[in-house]
Amino acid sequence: MFRKTALILLVLATVAKTYGQAISRDESEQRAQALLKQMNLDEKVGQLNQSAGIQMPMLGSEKPDTLIEQGRVGSILWLTNVKEINRLQHIAVEKSRLHIPILFAFDVIHGYRTVFPVPLAMASSWDPGVEEQAQHFAAQDARAAGIEWTFTPMVDIARDARWGRIVEGAGEDPYLGKAMAAAQVRGFQGDQLGPDSVLVCVKHFAGYGAADGGRDYDSSYIPEELFRNVYLAPFYAAAKAGAGSFMSAYMDLNDVPASGNKWLLTDILRNEWGFKGFLVSDAFAVGSLQVHGYAKDPSDAAYKAITAGLNMDMASQTYTKNLAQLVKDGKVTEAQIDAMVLPILAAKYQLGLFDHPYADESKVEATLNRPEGLTLERKLAARSMVLLKNDKQTLPLKTSIKKIALIGPLGDSTHDIEGGWTVEGLFGNGSKSHPVTLLAGLKNKLPNAQISTVSGPELSRVFPGLLDQLAGKKVLPPPTPQETADWIAKVKAAASDADLVVAAMGEIASMSSEASSRATLDLPGIQQQMLEAAVATGKPVVLVLLAGRPLDIRWPAEHVPAILEAWYPGTEGGNAIADVLFGDVNPGGKLPVSWPRVAGAEPLYYNHNLTHEPEDRPQFTSRYWDIQSKPLYPFGYGLSYTTFKFANLKLSQASIGTDGSTQVSVEVTNTGSVAGDAVGQVYIHQRWGSASRPVRQLKGFQRVALQPGETKTLTFPLGKDELEFWSPQTKNWVVEPSTFDVWAGEDSTAPLHAELTVTQ
Ligand code: NOJ
Repeated sequence: MFRKTALILLVLATVAKTYGQAISRDESEQRAQALLKQMNLDEKVGQLNQSAGIQMPMLGSEKPDTLIEQGRVGSILWLTNVKEINRLQHIAVEKSRLHIPILFAFDVIHGYRTVFPVPLAMASSWDPGVEEQAQHFAAQDARAAGIEWTFTPMVDIARDARWGRIVEGAGEDPYLGKAMAAAQVRGFQGDQLGPDSVLVCVKHFAGYGAADGGRDYDSSYIPEELFRNVYLAPFYAAAKAGAGSFMSAYMDLNDVPASGNKWLLTDILRNEWGFKGFLVSDAFAVGSLQVHGYAKDPSDAAYKAITAGLNMDMASQTYTKNLAQLVKDGKVTEAQIDAMVLPILAAKYQLGLFDHPYADESKVEATLNRPEGLTLERKLAARSMVLLKNDKQTLPLKTSIKKIALIGPLGDSTHDIEGGWTVEGLFGNGSKSHPVTLLAGLKNKLPNAQISTVSGPELSRVFPGLLDQLAGKKVLPPPTPQETADWIAKVKAAASDADLVVAAMGEIASMSSEASSRATLDLPGIQQQMLEAAVATGKPVVLVLLAGRPLDIRWPAEHVPAILEAWYPGTEGGNAIADVLFGDVNPGGKLPVSWPRVAGAEPLYYNHNLTHEPEDRPQFTSRYWDIQSKPLYPFGYGLSYTTFKFANLKLSQASIGTDGSTQVSVEVTNTGSVAGDAVGQVYIHQRWGSASRPVRQLKGFQRVALQPGETKTLTFPLGKDELEFWSPQTKNWVVEPSTFDVWAGEDSTAPLHAELTVTQ
């Protein structure tokens, strides 16, 4: 009897360990070391290989079964079919010599079945807590569906809206970027990587967002001080938050491709930052070292990548085909290979894959369809929207409206409301979510109103993207003059007959993300003409922008009374937009980017340096003679249905030493008549030192809810973390004696000012 009870307890303890408890990194490394001792060279190289789980033209049609059986596949990507995931995992666990499970990876960027707002939108919430919540929810979905590793967060700083991938990150600012990066790591991995979490992969390391001309994949040239102070900052924050893996970027970084760049992958990431996880290349990037003109041939590409410190080769199979020979030729030692394999095995142990390798297929659908996801999604979507303009209190709308004309190509598009990079939408898998379009959202809000729609011509890229091609999308010719005239006539008729026009305009989802850069930023197609026709009727017009980047909206900014930036708000997007339009939610989102007037002003960012001729001198008010060089809307900007007043900016100490710290406090009062959220923002400027410093730098923010008349005091620390910078002269991080300007308020132009002295 006693023995039986002891046995049951032992089993229960093992089960608890398997499903619930995380093991420490040390323990996982010890187990990995022991396993490594049993592995032959081919099996080790196998762990460094990530194979594609789907067939693509460039990958051939072979299924990876045999390779898996031989222990030559460490990880698989681009596979979401849980049955196939389990089938392949069974081969690895049951048929390979050492039974090492495969690590299944996918881009779970902004949700799984429940699609959350795109990352740029999430950053507009200025609320890392909501981002963490969303990514935690996505992690639960992904893990249930057999995905143990996600290529998220994308933390590339983007200062140029022409770059298509601006949609995937947190915008232009390193401080906001740091907060959003760390929140996403916590959301996916929890406090510690474990059997319930999803391993993150911080990408694209590093400098991808600085692509020349905003053209995707083009070279980045970034001086070291800019690299360290701006571009690396969110990566560092993610590493410190415990991120288990990083992805090396595609492009040349100062002439050395990131995926073969030892300075980046080893000297900075591992040696300086103490990163203990592993690195994977971006897709095909190891093979591409040859295409770049950096490696002589595939063998040289494998050599350059592995000796730079890149653990895993995504999809190119350059490691599989060349590493063993490099070891045999004595160019790479087996100890080097071991060091690359170890963190991959350790991650598999930490994720609990050895004990619990399979997804429970019977639970997947129930998990993915959890109704609380939709409630959370709707809340987050509304929190992410930015009210750009609201003349004469056009918004919020009254529910007594009887007739609405909904114009524009994005009013009833189920795909575009969720944005790109959706797990089930990729590779033509077919999404099983039920996105709420703006038309549906308006109908839900006003069941008795009459809503007429004029979509206008379907939008189309001039050059199709890879995903367009995979989905069989055709490039459409622009409308003929007659077709244009017909659409305009329809807009006029619908608008004239309505009490209100809602214009749902911007870009279709495939105009943003990878390989989706553009040279212009105007509203594609005939959208602006449609808008002009609607405004000409004299009816009130509300423009709802759906896009993954700021657009050239100079005309609407002058002529349309209300503009709401909704980005790509996700599955409940239409309901969330309606919540904001009708005032059920008071918008509180703020811009994570400086909004350019015109594409030619890019790259544009608020934290630029002073020059010998500051722009506020009358004869130098603009850098261009044809257009104001300042943004249309500044970084950090966003309106509310109420108003806020910031006052009493104070420093707990006005003078500190270089190792000291002070506390900034500022009062914010809701001076309007409805409740709303304010985002208190603190900016600093170092007046002199060993280098010129940006005119302003964000160093603290907090989103708070305030009732009408309510005042709250916000406090922010200012110490080493906020005051230090990497100096190009001293070549290290310094806090320098100087005078610092400190501003607090609603956006990056906040006037409320104090002075801080930092002494030696
Ligand atoms: C290429 C993209 O650049 C990267 O962001 C993504 O994670 C990988 N493909 C895998 O899908």
